[in-house]
Amino acid sequence: MSTPLPLDGIKVIDFTHVQAGPACTQLLAWYGADVLKVERPGSGDVTRSQLRDDPDADALYFTMLNSNKRSLTLNTKDPAGKEVLEKLIRQSDVLVENFAPGALDRMGFTWERIQELNPKMILASVSGFSEGHHYEDLKVYENVAQCAGGAASTTGFWDGPPTVSAAALGDSNTGMHLAIGILTALRGRDKTGKGQKVACAMQDAVLNLCRVKLRDQQRLDKIGYLEEYPQYPHGEFSDVVPRGGNAGGGGQPGWVLKCKSWETDPNAYIYFTIQGHAWQPICRALNKPEWIDDPAYNTAEARQDKIMEIFAFIEEWLKDKTKYEAVDILRKFDIPCAPVASMKELAEDKSLRESGSIVEVPHKQRGTYLTVGSPIKFSGFKPVITGSPLLGEHSDEVLAELGYNVEQIAAMHESNTI
Ligand code: COA
Repeated sequence: MSTPLPLDGIKVIDFTHVQAGPACTQLLAWYGADVLKVERPGSGDVTRSQLRDDPDADALYFTMLNSNKRSLTLNTKDPAGKEVLEKLIRQSDVLVENFAPGALDRMGFTWERIQELNPKMILASVSGFSEGHHYEDLKVYENVAQCAGGAASTTGFWDGPPTVSAAALGDSNTGMHLAIGILTALRGRDKTGKGQKVACAMQDAVLNLCRVKLRDQQRLDKIGYLEEYPQYPHGEFSDVVPRGGNAGGGGQPGWVLKCKSWETDPNAYIYFTIQGHAWQPICRALNKPEWIDDPAYNTAEARQDKIMEIFAFIEEWLKDKTKYEAVDILRKFDIPCAPVASMKELAEDKSLRESGSIVEVPHKQRGTYLTVGSPIKFSGFKPVITGSPLLGEHSDEVLAELGYNVEQIAAMHESNTI
């Protein structure tokens, strides 16, 4: 008998699309929840056909966000479809959605109605802005959220425009926040027997990750400068947190530094951190012992006004070393650093494959595809990642579970309800 998974028995109606919602429900599915993706008949989640690399197969955008789920097609605006959704709500624990504001209400599934159908139901929603926010009616995608949540104004270089991150701070990050909210509500339900509404706005989830920039705004307001930014001490500060390039955001100065072949390889760089108490080992690693006791260098404060010169010196040292050679030397001195990894390198990384952080999974149309596995590791079980479902792959099976007979299911196919 296989080991039960922690979320075995939790039934999730996955009424999500694009990235933010699907990332949340995929996480729940990895850990054992029965996640049923409810999709519009004919087309399904828009990501099935977005950025396709194979005209006859679901796009990787979809497959990488919907592993371990089942798929039911259902027109939830059609009366027969609504009836199916009502039955599902009666039998499920969680309904997750990330439609535009008000879409679920317009479909007839208000929070009041959902509670009537199942008082134990947890309704979890992603929105762009929080309820009552002056932008609450806006539709939002990833980069919109990064701009609204403070990430863009503080990312990039001071002489360039606000910049968005490649990391999905608006989408997947909000999904992860929502998953924590759902698990919290499930734990709460164990105590009270009641469900509740859980909401996470993309702007708030981005802001939560930008908290150090909110910290910096308050420091700037008070003292007028930020000593860990490259603008200090030679540049100017205005009254808003500036873009700090590749500076470290905490107490440890750091920078992206060129290594051998940077002229031809766009990722021949390392990130180097000058951890305060690692100054001695840094000097030894760089063969610069005279800096160890030199009062012009031996404290973080003393180094601050020449930090860029120090980084330039380290780049000189890195000139004849590949990023891997450099890290192999620096790791012996306990210096926090890493090679700048390309996506190709990550896709081929043996350690990530062995740990299950990147996995190759079977798929009915694609043969196999590469996707991310659980970044969270457990001692009691190892999440097994399975391929994403085809559109409506489990419609008949799910309707049969709900008590519909073969004729009724055939009629629903006929009328495009499923
Ligand atoms: N059957 C029938 N109708 C369905 C359906 C189904 N299975 N699934 C969805 N629909 C309907 C919705 O009810 C809605 O109808 P309505 O506008 O008549 O009320 C319609 O499809 C479109 O939904 P909507 O969410 O408005 O899609 P969109 O493509 O216009 O907008 C987003 C996409 C992402 C911008 C929007 O959903 C949004 O802002 N979501 C919240 C924030 C979010 O999660 N963004 C991140 C996405 S990664």
